[in-house]
Amino acid sequence: MSEKEVPLKETIKSFHFTDETDIIDLSCSSSDSLCSESDQHVCNEGCLNIKIKEVLHPSYGMHVWASAPVLSKFIWYNRSKLKEKTVLELGSGTGLVSVVAAKCKAHVILTDSKKYECTFQTALENLQLNGISKEAFEIKEMTWGYFSANLVQSPPIDIILGSDVFYSPKDFEDIIVTVSFLLKKNQSAEFWCTYEHRCTDWNIDNYLEKWNLNCEEISLSDFGADGFNVAGCDLPGLKTISLLIFRYSK
Ligand SMILES: C[S@@+](CC[C@H](N)C(=O)[O-])C[C@H]1O[C@@H](n2cnc3c(N)ncnc32)[C@H](O)[C@@H]1O
Repeated sequence: MSEKEVPLKETIKSFHFTDETDIIDLSCSSSDSLCSESDQHVCNEGCLNIKIKEVLHPSYGMHVWASAPVLSKFIWYNRSKLKEKTVLELGSGTGLVSVVAAKCKAHVILTDSKKYECTFQTALENLQLNGISKEAFEIKEMTWGYFSANLVQSPPIDIILGSDVFYSPKDFEDIIVTVSFLLKKNQSAEFWCTYEHRCTDWNIDNYLEKWNLNCEEISLSDFGADGFNVAGCDLPGLKTISLLIFRYSK
């Protein structure tokens, strides 16, 4: 087998969402192997098991980032707000956040950059792995800062999601431009976003004012995501994560 043909290493991460605690309820956790179609992911109204395939690949979106379980837990905590809503995720990567939103009965539109289109196949496999029906999701290319047809012609959106999209300052204004366009078009919508603290110098305040947005920080302790272990997984571990909700300033 030539070097090019060596298959990329795949792993599976398990996430377990409950109402009160991240201590795994063994009565409803499934094994670490790949799920079969008969796997029961929703144990009951108060418990959700998700499996996410990751690929050892240099592209950013091929593994779950530390902010994703935190945003997923916030979605789970607010699941009554997602029922029958349309949700669009920016920089969806492996798709954990959208899988959880779909399990909370939202119609999800996963988006990522065309430059990182290898993520689309992994996200699709993760939606299928978790039993999300094909009517419940769409996967689209959406590159931040570009007024593409997928952005301009997007359907009415209730919630925009973004986990660890603010990781490189060169992209910050492009993300804000895309979010501002969507929130101006959908003025009662919100952008729920988690990010990892990487550098104290990073700041988006000027962009918020320039693009008519305001944002509110939500304490992770409000929804039980302030620990080392979130959703039964040791992400975020020792990393500092914050959750912001952006709204359009009318
Ligand atoms: C740090 S990863 C986070 C992935 C996922 N949201 C998570 O938290 O696990 C950033 C994601 O943004 C995507 N991305 C990077 N640059 C982008 C751009 N200019 N436009 C749209 N998506 C982009 C990457 O492909 C990747 O999926």
